[in-house]
Amino acid sequence: MHVTNERPGGSMEAMTTWHPLRALWRSTVGKKALVAASGLILCLWVILHVAGNLTVFSGPEAADGYAASLRRVPAALWAVRIGLVVAAAVHVAGVVSLTRADRAARPRHQARGPRASTWAARSMRLGGALLLAFVIFHVLHLTFGVRLPGFLPGHVYANVVRGLHSPIMAGVYIGAALLLGLHLFHGLWAAMRSLGVWPDGAARRRRPAVAALSAAVALGFASVPLAVLAGWLR
Ligand code: HEM
Repeated sequence: MHVTNERPGGSMEAMTTWHPLRALWRSTVGKKALVAASGLILCLWVILHVAGNLTVFSGPEAADGYAASLRRVPAALWAVRIGLVVAAAVHVAGVVSLTRADRAARPRHQARGPRASTWAARSMRLGGALLLAFVIFHVLHLTFGVRLPGFLPGHVYANVVRGLHSPIMAGVYIGAALLLGLHLFHGLWAAMRSLGVWPDGAARRRRPAVAALSAAVALGFASVPLAVLAGWLR
């Protein structure tokens, strides 16, 4: 691919890059596409994760057996984990870079204040940052047993019940599930539009379906801490 770049100094510099991802990263439209594509990868994984979580309703054997089956091929597990970290890094770096470019391009008198960006965009950024903080805490908590006395590696059912039985901890997990639902609702819709998969009219018609999917994911995640709090899972 041949990319011509104009530098601020005014000199035209011809650069040849064979790396399509780097070329995408250099344009706003390309960066938006990378944010959208990485978001869709994370969304797909989140749907698989919530489906896996629901095995706790079939009892300890089903939940622990499901978790053990994921670890049966360590190379595949690590490939998925590395893929997730890369997708999350591209997603976050893309949003940060687009936000900076947006702020730099705005006239000075608009640089601050409530009109600085749309409500949806600002809540996506704040919600995304909170979700990132939750994921770091959550992996330390339920994968490594940090702040989880009696943690037993591989005993997913027991760890979930023990980890979520306090109302504060259950509240954190329920809050994260709701936040994720909101993030998916706006993010999925925006991603399909950024990638040009849904033109404007189709995107509007599919909003109820996106809302239903986001609500199902949020309720699926929230159902586990709610069931622990209610004493249905013990
Ligand atoms: C709210 C209810 C949730 C429950 C009950 C739950 C449960 C779990 C459990 C038990 C593990 C450890 C699995 C194992 O060691 O085999 C885990 C790992 C993980 N969870 Fe969740 N989770 C929840 C929500 C979420 C959300 C909302 C996200 C992301 C937005 C998320 C992201 C992750 C990640 C990244 C891992 C690490 C996966 C790995 O080790 O490969 N979880 N979760």
